[in-house]
Amino acid sequence: MKMAKFQSSSSPLVVLLLLLLLKAVLLTNVAILASSATVCPNCGTTPVPYPLSTGPNCGDPNYKVRCESGTLLFHTLNNTYPIISTQPQNQRFVIKPANFINNNNNNNTCVTSDITSEGVQLNASLPFNVTSSNTILYFNCTPLLLRSPLNCTATSLCHSYINGSVDGSVCGNSNICCTFRAGGSTNSYSIRVRDSGCRAYRSFVNLDYSLPVNKWPPPGLEIQYVSPPEPVCANQNDCDSDSTCALAENNGLRRCFCNTKFHWDPFLGSCAPGN
Ligand SMILES: *[C@@H]1O[C@H](CO)[C@@H](O)[C@H](O)[C@H]1NC(C)=O
Ligand SMILES: *[C@@H]1O[C@H](CO)[C@@H](O)[C@H](O)[C@H]1NC(C)=O
Ligand SMILES: *[C@@H]1O[C@H](CO)[C@@H](O)[C@H](O)[C@H]1NC(C)=O
Ligand SMILES: *[C@@H]1O[C@H](CO)[C@@H](O)[C@H](O)[C@H]1NC(C)=O
Ligand SMILES: *[C@@H]1O[C@H](CO)[C@@H](O)[C@H](O)[C@H]1NC(C)=O
Ligand SMILES: *[C@@H]1O[C@H](CO)[C@@H](O)[C@H](O)[C@H]1NC(C)=O
Repeated sequence: MKMAKFQSSSSPLVVLLLLLLLKAVLLTNVAILASSATVCPNCGTTPVPYPLSTGPNCGDPNYKVRCESGTLLFHTLNNTYPIISTQPQNQRFVIKPANFINNNNNNNTCVTSDITSEGVQLNASLPFNVTSSNTILYFNCTPLLLRSPLNCTATSLCHSYINGSVDGSVCGNSNICCTFRAGGSTNSYSIRVRDSGCRAYRSFVNLDYSLPVNKWPPPGLEIQYVSPPEPVCANQNDCDSDSTCALAENNGLRRCFCNTKFHWDPFLGSCAPGN
């Protein structure tokens, strides 16, 4: 009797909870159906914005990154760098450049550890490039650099970094240093580090040259990606009702093309109303 009373008095609450649950399930399904592109799950607590892809079933396969122990990683030709921030609104992210190599006495040397991969070398066939927001300081350079268009003068910003930071001080006794703003046509895919050029670098995003070195941001290298095309599909089941799975022009892949009265929104990763 007591039991029955308990049940009857609690049943409105149970019904309400069930309704809420049903609503949540329906909303989730609607959300999945409304987007033809599959955004990758968070990497630890870090969101993985479309089109970046941490696995075969999400993002766009041309925009591969890796998720390891909650950290997003970006692969270059022969190296891997942690992604420290993402700005999907303008298709950019910032990677953490290599550190100076530690010698046997546990002191840093004026050589960056990615000298083994000749610095940051992007695969020019992929949709990533180095943006012109990066100021690159090169250290430990050979006199060959004096004939380059880089600023290797005595007042070049690289000297300010050597003089004004503990990090840069390890390059104090090294050879020539030079500074340049990245993103010229020849270097938008690489920050080259090698024995016959410069052996170390530091990169800073949107550096305000008027600031003293102790006010500079932490090192970072900003990468931009081409805004993504429509998502790849095997058949119509992979696309939502706003799009049609059809053969893409160049590479034999099928993609979910937006139906008429819709257009592809690369930021949302879905078809949006309007032409
Ligand atoms: C390493 O650093 C320590 C303290 O900064 C210094 O005393 C020592 O001479 C350095 N060793 C080398 C090989 O530079
Ligand atoms: C990158 O790796 C490939 C294969 O291991 C090697 O042939 C090539 O020389 C490397 N390139 C650089 C710049 O390290
Ligand atoms: C560069 O990317 C293209 C396109 O994904 C790929 O086919 C090629 O193997 C990559 N090159 C290297 C050296 O990894
Ligand atoms: C090199 O950089 C310094 C510091 O920014 C600047 O004052 C100087 O005019 C530059 N020199 C050349 C040749 O660009
Ligand atoms: C760096 O320090 C050296 C030695 O103290 C000085 O000659 C030079 O003018 C300084 N350069 C800059 C850019 O601050
Ligand atoms: C990098 O790629 C973007 C997107 O394709 C392009 O708009 C930009 O001009 C490129 N920047 C450089 C420095 O090549």
